[in-house]
Amino acid sequence: MRLYDLAKPLLFQLDAETAHRSVHELLGAVQDTPLERTLADYYTVVDARLRVEAFDQTFPNPVGVAAGFDKNAEIPNALAALGFGHVEVGGVTAEPQAGNPRPRMFRLPEDRALINRMGFNNDGADVIGERLAATDCKVPLGVNIGKSKSAPNDEAEDDYRYTFERVREGGDYFVVNVSSPNTPGLRELQQRDRLESILGTLQDAGASPLLVKLSPNLTDAAIEDALEVVDELGLDGVIATNTSTDRPANLQGEAADEKGGLSGKPIEQEATSMVRFVAERTDKPVVGVGGISDAEGAYEKIRNGASVVQLYTGLIYEGPSLARDINEGLLELLERDGFDSIEDAIGADL
Ligand code: FNR
Repeated sequence: MRLYDLAKPLLFQLDAETAHRSVHELLGAVQDTPLERTLADYYTVVDARLRVEAFDQTFPNPVGVAAGFDKNAEIPNALAALGFGHVEVGGVTAEPQAGNPRPRMFRLPEDRALINRMGFNNDGADVIGERLAATDCKVPLGVNIGKSKSAPNDEAEDDYRYTFERVREGGDYFVVNVSSPNTPGLRELQQRDRLESILGTLQDAGASPLLVKLSPNLTDAAIEDALEVVDELGLDGVIATNTSTDRPANLQGEAADEKGGLSGKPIEQEATSMVRFVAERTDKPVVGVGGISDAEGAYEKIRNGASVVQLYTGLIYEGPSLARDINEGLLELLERDGFDSIEDAIGADL
């Protein structure tokens, strides 16, 4: 019996966001105390075969925390202590934002999924920038940058640049998020000309390594357009994918019709297909995210071209031992298939 088997029914009696906040506070209380070390010893799988070098970072293992879990960059080291090999904080916007009215995060337990329409609630670039500057994260730390709701799309460049300039000191890599479904019009910025201009502005400002995070709802042609921009500008990588506005017909959860982005199991295969589609068309590293909740799922994304993977929803359903379980499972899968390391398995199925 794992501790989370006891905690989960209690947490699941709370509204999803309240439960998340409780866990967040608990992790915050542990961070920077001796207990952080104890957790790290318990959850971290140390093995050179898990190490991945990608976009100038050395990842001690390929399993990271996806954006949205630690929006305000308050607990990156507590998450690292749960055995994650990188943490992506944010989305951060230039202005502090309250986000959409609650409730705005819903569990679909029958589907092992979430729907959220948070709307980039965060402390804003000034506060988060200072917090990051005072943080020494033990694993690579990415900063996911969103657009302020108040900034019109034709002024998005300045808004993204403002945030980048405030978080640059504290981040190891930077992600332009143009794929959240919860800021009206944001996803239009994935369109070729807008993307080129925003990414170019950030590169001119010195953003490096710079990645772009894409939506699973893009058409193949739109993904190809975005990848042309990635190659043209010499971007450092692509994150596939964000949450989905599609609703598969077989969803069982009562909350299935809530507005927002769907994450978790129901988007896993679609996200993996998109990882593959992207990896087949660019030499840039791909970060695979969407529905991962076990070692097999992480391995499948890696074999389809992901250099590292990320997860969020799986953590809600599987609990704090998930990074360790996946890393241990990955080592078994590597041995089963005769790979010497994760790096050997990347793109093996392409
Ligand atoms: C997210 N996600 C997200 N992505 C992003 O780029 N910026 C963000 O601010 C957020 N915020 C956010 C909040 C909540 C509550 C959820 C559930 C998700 C998307 C997340 O990073 C990831 O791409 C998807 O959730 C798919 O992965 P999982 O959850 O299926 O592992």
